[in-house]
Amino acid sequence: MLCLGVETSCDDTSLALVRDGELAGAVCASQVRVHALFGGVVPEVASREHGRLLGPLADLLFQEAGVRPGEVNVVAVARGPGLLGSLLVGVSFAKAFAFSNGARFIGVNHLHAHLMAAGLEQPLSFPAVGLLASGGHTHLYAVNGPAEFTLLGRTLDDAAGEAFDKAGKMLGLPYPAGSMMDQLAEEGTADARLFPRPYLGNDNLDFSFSGLKTAMATRLADRPHTALRWNPATGEAGLPGNRQAVADICASFRLAVVETLAEKTRRALRRRPEAVSLILAGGVAANGLLRRSLARLAEEEGRRFFCPQPKLCTDNGAMIAWLGWLLAARGYSHSLAMEAIPRGRAVPDDMRHVEG
Ligand code: KG4
Ligand code: ZN
Repeated sequence: MLCLGVETSCDDTSLALVRDGELAGAVCASQVRVHALFGGVVPEVASREHGRLLGPLADLLFQEAGVRPGEVNVVAVARGPGLLGSLLVGVSFAKAFAFSNGARFIGVNHLHAHLMAAGLEQPLSFPAVGLLASGGHTHLYAVNGPAEFTLLGRTLDDAAGEAFDKAGKMLGLPYPAGSMMDQLAEEGTADARLFPRPYLGNDNLDFSFSGLKTAMATRLADRPHTALRWNPATGEAGLPGNRQAVADICASFRLAVVETLAEKTRRALRRRPEAVSLILAGGVAANGLLRRSLARLAEEEGRRFFCPQPKLCTDNGAMIAWLGWLLAARGYSHSLAMEAIPRGRAVPDDMRHVEG
């Protein structure tokens, strides 16, 4: 069975093919340079870019993979949550492709696709606890399989990636700042007292990261010359004189976010003794310290640890094709009436299921 995956939920236009459970091709066009000029994703620009890029990317994918469009049996698309205009471009493309090629159609939950992505590299074991940390979401789940997710906790305000992006912006780093903050943090020395570990004094599994913005603003007010200057023309960040000060503050900030994520994840694991594994996923899962910390946590708690390689952590079409393939293999599909779901609305459980 050959499944085409389409991902357009935010600012990456990405397509991939999964054949018989193996990745058979992938293409991705990141719009990050376009949006960096505005300091964040501009929804209207993102939708137009998806519309411009999808056709040529599909041609490239089929050419590189040596596959004819008519060979595709299933078309999977990220149906949400995400930017509605962007999702609509991908969903319309996927519906048209499925209809014209007589393929089965299936809309997948973008967040579930992140959590299943590591399965492309090695078989996952269930039941699991999953931490999904991205630019738009920070969710803890109990995961029993590709179609069985129970939400255990979520951020009440900013997502972990958003916290990195906003803090990085205050430091003068280009959008999205998470990856550069992580690289700078590797050069710095963390001060564990500089930032709080927010929202741990409760017995729920939710998060709240918005207070870290204020903390960063306060720390920077005490250190007026800490911000880096970024040159958009060369893509270079930093002034030799204060690079170390910025690296230190990045290391302290990263430590606060990671320790907070790890503590709530530890509590989730303890509440779910039946979980045999811990899955870490989403763009923030590319973070070096978070990967190391959660790998250690899983070992301490006696669970297996799964986290995809960094390329599969950020948004990509392969994870959509993979989850689409898994669901289709279990008999699931959607009619062409399926709707895209914007961020903030729950993705409905409205798949059709055919036995056998
Ligand atoms: O999953 P993703 O590609 O898109 C969403 O669905 O949101 O996640 C993007 C987020 C951004 O906030 C970005 O700054 C963050 O992931 N990110 C990182 C790292 N790489 C990407 N955050 C911390 N450390 C990283 N290495
Ligand atoms: Zn994502």
